[in-house]
Amino acid sequence: MSKVTVVGAGNVGATCANVLAFNEVADEVVMLDVKEGVSEGKAMDMMQCAQLLGFDTTVVGCTNDYEKTANSDVVVITSGIPRKPGMTREELIGVNAGIVKTVAENLLKYSPNAILVVVSNPMDTLTYLALKTLGLPKNRIIGMGGALDSSRFKYFLSQALGCNANEVEGMVIGGHGDTTMIPLTRYATYKGMPVSQFLSAEKLEEVAAATMVGGATLTKLLGTSAWYAPGAASAFVVEAILHNQMKMVPCSVSLEGEYGQDDICIGVPVILGRNGIERIVEIELNEDEKAKFEASADAVRATNGALKEVGAL
Ligand code: LAC
Repeated sequence: MSKVTVVGAGNVGATCANVLAFNEVADEVVMLDVKEGVSEGKAMDMMQCAQLLGFDTTVVGCTNDYEKTANSDVVVITSGIPRKPGMTREELIGVNAGIVKTVAENLLKYSPNAILVVVSNPMDTLTYLALKTLGLPKNRIIGMGGALDSSRFKYFLSQALGCNANEVEGMVIGGHGDTTMIPLTRYATYKGMPVSQFLSAEKLEEVAAATMVGGATLTKLLGTSAWYAPGAASAFVVEAILHNQMKMVPCSVSLEGEYGQDDICIGVPVILGRNGIERIVEIELNEDEKAKFEASADAVRATNGALKEVGAL
């Protein structure tokens, strides 16, 4: 029996649960929310798709009943408030830090062996908060951002190339912020060939810039932050872990000397498998990429500093 809990049955959490069910990633998916009836309603709605879409996963909803989440293999935390147009992810820390800490503590009471996937923003900082406060080994604390940002990067690359996004490979490392993420254009490929064979340096800069503000662009269009790709990216990370896929995915993880960094959670390529982070992959960065990574780490560290100000650390 495999079981996943998704906390927060808002747009991102419910989309994640829906993708997990549709793809039969786990036998059971529990959605938990603080709003009375919302996760129960969404779970029932999803279960009424089972016969239409042909899936066997059971989706259960509950209001703040952590007992129902017991013995989950993976827990996904999406709780907290999303950003509104014009806001940065970092501005959410005051509200979301307390929520994420409480939710994670409650989850671990009932699922002491679970692997934790953090989605709530500011994602890198809340992943760091989990690392610092929960006493879990670092392989079990994973911030989701890089999977989403890389998917957006591949989308924008495919648009520029005029091709199917599945023909494109690429990764975004660094922080999950409008100015902190680093799309690795130098390493991106189209059918195994460097994208620089097909796109000008200018075009590649445009793609990188669009990727970095990918979330903000959607927030402006939608009036709240996006959910289809964030939900699917969360489910993608869960699947890689639960099915021991050993996929290389950029995720926000604790660094202890890798990439010249310490005491931080930030996006780097990792291998995801049944132990969570199986290993960190150190790729070679050129001087420009290294400088960007250092600046990104400085910015994430500055946001981490706010954890003390809001009393979360
Ligand atoms: C985004 C939010 C979920 O990037 O961080 O859309």
